[in-house]
Amino acid sequence: MKSIASAPGKVILFGEHFVVYGIKAILCAIDKRVKVTSSTTESNSIDIKSNLGSISIPKSKSLDELKSPLLPFIYLSKKMIHRFDHPGGISVTIDSSIPSGVGLGSSSACCVAAAASISGLFNHFSKDEIVNLAIEAEKTIFKDTSGADCSVCTYGGIIEYDKENGFKKIESSLNFPLVIVNSGITHSTNKVVKKVNEFKKKNELIFSSLCEKETELVNKVILSLKNNDFTSLGKIMTQNQEYLEKLGVSNSVLRNMIEIANKTSFGSKITGAGLGGCIISCVDESNLNPTLKNLQSNNYDCFPVKIDSKGLDTF
Ligand code: MEV
Repeated sequence: MKSIASAPGKVILFGEHFVVYGIKAILCAIDKRVKVTSSTTESNSIDIKSNLGSISIPKSKSLDELKSPLLPFIYLSKKMIHRFDHPGGISVTIDSSIPSGVGLGSSSACCVAAAASISGLFNHFSKDEIVNLAIEAEKTIFKDTSGADCSVCTYGGIIEYDKENGFKKIESSLNFPLVIVNSGITHSTNKVVKKVNEFKKKNELIFSSLCEKETELVNKVILSLKNNDFTSLGKIMTQNQEYLEKLGVSNSVLRNMIEIANKTSFGSKITGAGLGGCIISCVDESNLNPTLKNLQSNNYDCFPVKIDSKGLDTF
């Protein structure tokens, strides 16, 4: 028995970090995907193969005994073996075209596609059930996740998300390109989220005022998206970047990329955890190529992405 699923990566357009503390964020899925293929086997093992390496363990092994970036997939396999009383093992192959560790949702997309692919060996699960499974799995390596990334990778398109109310699709006719610039510096989201938590503990007043400002900003974004207003989206990105600078998740490499991108784009900001990873720039067809050219001539790794409207797909 074989089951295949694919899920898109993501960018956070507005609201990373603040979303961990209950503020609404805006995210979109991008046209870079991961594909996960799972099979039931007659062995007694769980075998995972991925770009991050491979692991093969007896299915009886406890998760507490393991330290591996592949833990979410072992968790999902064990959970399904137990739930459906499967007498054999499971083999999982992850094939990703999303750069990992740079804020483009590679880990969440893998969790979503793996949750659908592994559970699909036994039963049909709804997207709502898959997203919950994926978040549980992601928590084995990142316990403070807001759940925003797994939600957008499951449902696709542009969404607003907050921890209390979950996700809501933003209906916009916009299919704008975005420019992504990869600093090539990988980061641990977990560590950067902990760093922001330390900032919050030491600066409660500043942090709560930033949360209020971020809320106002996100409400403006929803209007700009509905009105197809790129110029205003770009300005709001630049504003959001100022708040991220205050949280301490920027650095000189990211600032330099933003400065160069802003010579031709409508505005730019860090996307995801920061302290490495990627920035995004808001462009339309008029300034897409000049922005790419300008960044390339400064030796930055950059590429355009489009919004993926499909989200999780199963075969
Ligand atoms: C990471 O892509 C986004 C963060 O806001 C963490 C999270 O939402 O779980 C930094």
